[in-house]
Amino acid sequence: MIEKKLSIQSGLYLAEPLDTWLTAGNQDFAVPEAAGSSARVFLLKDETGSSAYKRDPAFKVMRHDKISYAKPLFLEEFRILANLQNIQGLTPMLQAGFLKTDAASMWPSELAPLSKDAEQKASAAHVSGTLSLFAPDETDTLLEEMDERLADGWLPFLILERRWEDNLYLLCDAGYTRGNFVKNLTMKQVLDISIQIVDMLDKAHQRGATYLDHKLLHYYWNEYRQKVIMLDWNIGHWQPQNIQPEVLQFDLVQFSSRAMHHIFTGRQAPGSVAVGPNRPEDINNSPRHFKASYSYDVQNRLNQEEMRFLEKALDGNFLSAAEMRDHLQYLASKRL
Ligand SMILES: Nc1ncnc2c1ncn2[C@@H]1O[C@H](COP(=O)(O)OP(=O)(O)O)[C@@H](O)[C@H]1O
Ligand SMILES: [Mg+2]
Repeated sequence: MIEKKLSIQSGLYLAEPLDTWLTAGNQDFAVPEAAGSSARVFLLKDETGSSAYKRDPAFKVMRHDKISYAKPLFLEEFRILANLQNIQGLTPMLQAGFLKTDAASMWPSELAPLSKDAEQKASAAHVSGTLSLFAPDETDTLLEEMDERLADGWLPFLILERRWEDNLYLLCDAGYTRGNFVKNLTMKQVLDISIQIVDMLDKAHQRGATYLDHKLLHYYWNEYRQKVIMLDWNIGHWQPQNIQPEVLQFDLVQFSSRAMHHIFTGRQAPGSVAVGPNRPEDINNSPRHFKASYSYDVQNRLNQEEMRFLEKALDGNFLSAAEMRDHLQYLASKRL
């Protein structure tokens, strides 16, 4: 563990918020997801010349007014990300730790930085304090210190590789794209994206992690490399010992009804947990079976086999990620 000063004078400081806006193509959109969540996310700038990061990372910090709600979520995310290092497509945790803000520091209000003026008002550059920084392999120590640090006024945080790719929600949502989602990605790409996500779930499941919060806002699309990248594991669970088969099956149903139905059809399955600041109980109380819904433009997009596959997945008929991936690979092999 090392301590560093956070302040604009020291050259290590927080800048624009990352949780209030998203990019697709060259356009920026305000997104109302963040309010009510457990965390705030800012760009972390390091102008000291001794940066440990290749480029400016994201700083996800616990909300000071949501500590009891946020604590179990942060614990899960620390445990999961410390144990899912080096899996392709997962946004890695670069460092983690605790921040004690100086008494006079105030968090900025939640504005999308879509103009220079809003950017200034939304920036956290004037938040100063002390950072206690831990490497990912020191996560056990960090977890041991959690209660004492919280009691002493420290806020837990994660430093994450910053996502700059296009958000999949903005490429795939029927409303946001005004129906153009059908042109944004081909079915071959849709199937390939699904395969990549299921592959990541397979690796996570094998190590003992579930994801559960499958809203498309959590997935990014690297157009150039044709790669999906995901973030936000705090609703998931870390259960390396005897993870139950029903838990894995439920993760796959959540993936199918939210992310997969959304990229296939432009919308989530009817009755699934809405896109928003989702709470663990919203997801726990969610149904275990869903039905597909195809709008007119989508009926021409999907073929019969793809529809049957989606319906099977929504009904909870896949017990493992590997089994789902095999079926997706078969469907992808039929598309040019
Ligand atoms: N590493 C990152 N790079 C870029 N933006 C990020 C990053 N992490 C989070 N964000 C932005 O902040 C939002 C909230 O972060 P998330 O991890 O989903 O937190 P929460 O647990 O509060 O939902 C994300 O939807 C995304 O827009
Ligand atoms: Mg989130």
